Amino acid sequence: MNKIQRIAVLTSGGDAPGMNAALRAIVRTAAYHNIETIGVYNGYEGLIDNNFILMGTSFVSNIIQRGGTILRSARSQRFFEKGYQEKAFRHLKDANIDGLIVIGGDGSFRGLNEFCNHFPILGIGIPGTIDNDMIGTDYTIGYDTAINTVVDAVDKIRDTAYSHNRIFFVEVMGRDAGLIALRAGIAVGAEGVLIPETVTTLDDLTYDLITNRRMNKSSGIIIVSEGDELGGAVEVAKKIQERLPDFEFRVTILGHIQRGGAPSCMDRVRASTMGHHSVLRLIDGHNKEMVGIINNKVSFTPLENAVKHHQKVPQHLVDMIRILAF
Ligand code: F6P
Repeated sequence: MNKIQRIAVLTSGGDAPGMNAALRAIVRTAAYHNIETIGVYNGYEGLIDNNFILMGTSFVSNIIQRGGTILRSARSQRFFEKGYQEKAFRHLKDANIDGLIVIGGDGSFRGLNEFCNHFPILGIGIPGTIDNDMIGTDYTIGYDTAINTVVDAVDKIRDTAYSHNRIFFVEVMGRDAGLIALRAGIAVGAEGVLIPETVTTLDDLTYDLITNRRMNKSSGIIIVSEGDELGGAVEVAKKIQERLPDFEFRVTILGHIQRGGAPSCMDRVRASTMGHHSVLRLIDGHNKEMVGIINNKVSFTPLENAVKHHQKVPQHLVDMIRILAF
């Protein structure tokens, strides 16, 4: 008989397409091993408020293709307080839960690591965030769908930019990380990509826009990561307009459409794989680990390390963008 008989799962932080696919894999893998899965609503808030539901295998039917998270999510501030963590632990123990799986980003893992350091419960993290800013995995759940959403939207913007001889500044998400901007920027053939990991000055940008015009490019797309040091797309466009009064600029902020929609094939496969392995790790007694996929192999990283660093932007992609833009 397994030592583990009941596990709990929650989704935390910004939702990401594919979270439901991970939930489905967790519940079904657990059921296969005669383990019950308890779903916790609203992230860590639901742990504190005892907002639990028993998830049978049919509970997760018909969700693999749905964006968002059927368990809902939250960014809980209360969970960082010891008193609320004690309450959360009591609720888990009262429900006879031996292990907790958290699907979320680095903030969520910081909470999980601290929780498992203080209380006798096994914890496993699954990286779910559109930002792809975590180490210990090549891709986080939701990233692939988000960049495809950006590409789809920018292709449409490109049509109108071309027709009106305009330059569009398109702002994409990514908080402190430029990985959405970088890969989507390459895929849309952007004339420029502004990301927090590299410094692009207003002089650089002005020079590139003028060079493009001299090469008879009358329209263009500049992807601006929301965390760029020059500011968001509105701010950058305003500053550049002062330098280039003859150019016609427009701004589009893509916002939360990047977080929604049906998960891509790769997000569903990655989410299913990570969900499946998270349960196997709990069965094997592992604790305070993040499940990831590196070079197509399932990998495990101590939560403590996973929250220490962010994934770096691949320099070869940064170098390539500017060459391909002209
Ligand atoms: O972490 C995912 C993310 O979408 C970031 O890219 C973005 O900065 C943030 O969440 C937005 O969070 P919220 O939906 O809480 O405003």
